Amino acid sequence: MNEQNAFKVVPHGEIAVLEFDLVGEKVNKLSSHVMKQLSKVIDDLKASPYKAVVILSKKPKIFIAGADIEEIKTMTTKEQFESAVEGGQSIFNKLEDLPQVVVAAVNGACAGGGCELILACDYRMASDDSSTRIGLPETQLGIIPGFGGCVRLPRVVGLQAALDVILAGKLLNAKKAQKIGLVDRLVHQNQLLAESIKWTQEILKEGKGKRKKTFKPKGAVNVVLESALGRPVVFSKARQSVMKQTRGHYPAPLKALSAIQKTYGMSDRERALRIERELFCEAAVTDISKNLIHVFFLTEMVKKQSGVPGVAVKPQEVKSIGILGAGTMGGGIAYVAADKGISVRMKDLSWDALGKGLKHAQDLWMKLMKKKVIDRYQLKQKMDLVSVGLDYSGFKSLDVVVEAIVEDMAIKQKVIGETAAQMRNDAIIATNTSSLSVTEMAQGHPRPEYFAGMHFFNPVNKMPLVEVIRGEKTSDTTIATIFDLTKRMGKMPVVVKDGPGFLVNRLLLPYMAEAAFLLQEGMSIDIVDKAYVESFGMPMGPFALMDEVGLDVCAKVLKIFKKSFGERIEISPIMEKLLAAGRLGRKNSKGFYLYDATGKRLETDSTVYEDLGLSSPTDPYEEKECLERGVFSMINECSLALNQDRIVETPHEVDLAMIMGTGFPPFRGGLLKYADSLGANYIADQLELYSSQRKAARLKPAAPLRDMAKNEKTFYAKT
Ligand SMILES: NC(=O)c1ccc[n+]([C@@H]2O[C@H](COP(=O)([O-])OP(=O)(O)OC[C@H]3O[C@@H](n4cnc5c(N)ncnc54)[C@H](O)[C@@H]3O)[C@@H](O)[C@H]2O)c1
Repeated sequence: MNEQNAFKVVPHGEIAVLEFDLVGEKVNKLSSHVMKQLSKVIDDLKASPYKAVVILSKKPKIFIAGADIEEIKTMTTKEQFESAVEGGQSIFNKLEDLPQVVVAAVNGACAGGGCELILACDYRMASDDSSTRIGLPETQLGIIPGFGGCVRLPRVVGLQAALDVILAGKLLNAKKAQKIGLVDRLVHQNQLLAESIKWTQEILKEGKGKRKKTFKPKGAVNVVLESALGRPVVFSKARQSVMKQTRGHYPAPLKALSAIQKTYGMSDRERALRIERELFCEAAVTDISKNLIHVFFLTEMVKKQSGVPGVAVKPQEVKSIGILGAGTMGGGIAYVAADKGISVRMKDLSWDALGKGLKHAQDLWMKLMKKKVIDRYQLKQKMDLVSVGLDYSGFKSLDVVVEAIVEDMAIKQKVIGETAAQMRNDAIIATNTSSLSVTEMAQGHPRPEYFAGMHFFNPVNKMPLVEVIRGEKTSDTTIATIFDLTKRMGKMPVVVKDGPGFLVNRLLLPYMAEAAFLLQEGMSIDIVDKAYVESFGMPMGPFALMDEVGLDVCAKVLKIFKKSFGERIEISPIMEKLLAAGRLGRKNSKGFYLYDATGKRLETDSTVYEDLGLSSPTDPYEEKECLERGVFSMINECSLALNQDRIVETPHEVDLAMIMGTGFPPFRGGLLKYADSLGANYIADQLELYSSQRKAARLKPAAPLRDMAKNEKTFYAKT
């Protein structure tokens, strides 16, 4: 813990500028230690002759990142949370009650406790820099704003805007924050100090003094919504929308909603804050909050990693990349790279293909422009970063080339060799293959240490995960460079050893294969998918997922797996029958589901059963069995991938990859956190039971899982 005082008062005439700089830390955080210092400095200011206080941060792109989540992570009991939150609330009350006018001058991230601090101030100014992001993301961690955020935000910005900010847990850019009235003025970041002092002097001169937090609605609609009659409608709509989005799996937004509903308009501040505190504690003690905080740390972990544990490796500088293949994946990769300012050269076999790839990227930026996220000038800047060609011109200057051509080993090896001959000796080639061996493909490269896998997921612009695949000869520098490049593209890298299906597809395949058996044994497609989505919390069920991936691709990859893993992989005969019936999934609008002309998924296709020679479904199994057979198949496979084959090093990487790559429900903390919450014993017993009841050898618990069960080990305890 840093004992140095994080706060410094710098006099500017009758104004005290309170600078916040947590020395030795990259960001300003409100740990209990810092809160104590803040409390003391507020007491000192109260007793001082200053007429006004301006609060600002000395960190370049951070005002206050929020409470110290490391500390929250260590708390378990209601009493611990209660005392921490009560302490924070009373310090912010003291800030609000200062006799001086208090002005917050925000530049950079101002989240959670940081936002609650500025809400306790009288006036708020912010820089219009893109780093300025203000909001209350607590619900994303399974908690609610507890330092007065639920009570003060609606009083500052009104009910509807406050609900939008708190329930979604998203941060607002400076313009949006000003639009809803969360900040009063915007200035250029270089002018923040000077302008905030000037403005404070004006406030003092005009005798405006302290400001009450009472939102005054503007416009007829707002007046109605803020009225006694309108409020219940606003709350009921908000509740419906939360339930639709969370399916009831995330209690925090509902608790926040309840805190706002119970306290809005309450004149007794202490009572209102007590209600907020109680609801905070109810949310904070849940396993769901613990799991969401675990996921938060998984993502933080990646920010600090280089991709090569235990060794200091410097990534190579990457200014420009090449992409081979402008198809579904190539176009998406060009978009994410250029979007982050990386120059891209795309190569394909025809102008037609290149045109499609470019259009793919352009359409995505046009959508952003329509939503006013970027302007026309930014669109042009981004488009200008992408150039295209049919030959290798310009490849000498590229630092990395991502290969995204047809999934064929011989063609890929040949093209990789050709490409390497056109590039510098220290430049890297990374393949986006989803099913071929990176080690084998590296044989096509004259310097295989400069070759790795960079497995993006489809659609590239939406899916955060990239598996960085280490072939047998891939060098540490190559891994570190691709790992770093992935992060710069705004994606989440997980380093994975080469092996069939790498990590995510290896775990997903048995899960999808199991769904095919459930169908074969009489379950309805919609009942199974609904169970996974509504009860378990997956973004889509296994049948919808198979349609997305393509039923031909699923069948092909299952065969590859069977070849690699043998008896363990059983393939339901319905897979072949689906193909024989011309069902490929979304790509030909004919799969387990029906699709409209725009490609939107509709209801399940009732003619599937007949095509597969199945009688009408009898739904012989309980939901529990349907879910356990699928999810436990993934856990079973993972015990082999992690404990035996060491495809990844830690359970953390599995959980991160499954959440980011498949949308595995974050509130469960990830596949292996979920497995640990049930215990290896239970999972192994259930698999044994299903294996014998359904005469399915594939469901037998694998040796590493049985070992864990016998020795009462958990996945996480192993590390
Ligand atoms: N589509 C997915 O869901 C997905 C997901 C992850 C990984 N991948 C992998 O990404 C790769 C590309 O898949 P896709 O879906 O984008 O395929 P795609 O068919 O949409 O695009 C492939 C493109 O590569 C071009 N091409 C073929 N040979 C070429 C060559 N010698 N030089 C330059 N361009 C060439 C084709 O003209 C085509 O435009 C494959 O290895 C695939 O396994 C696909």
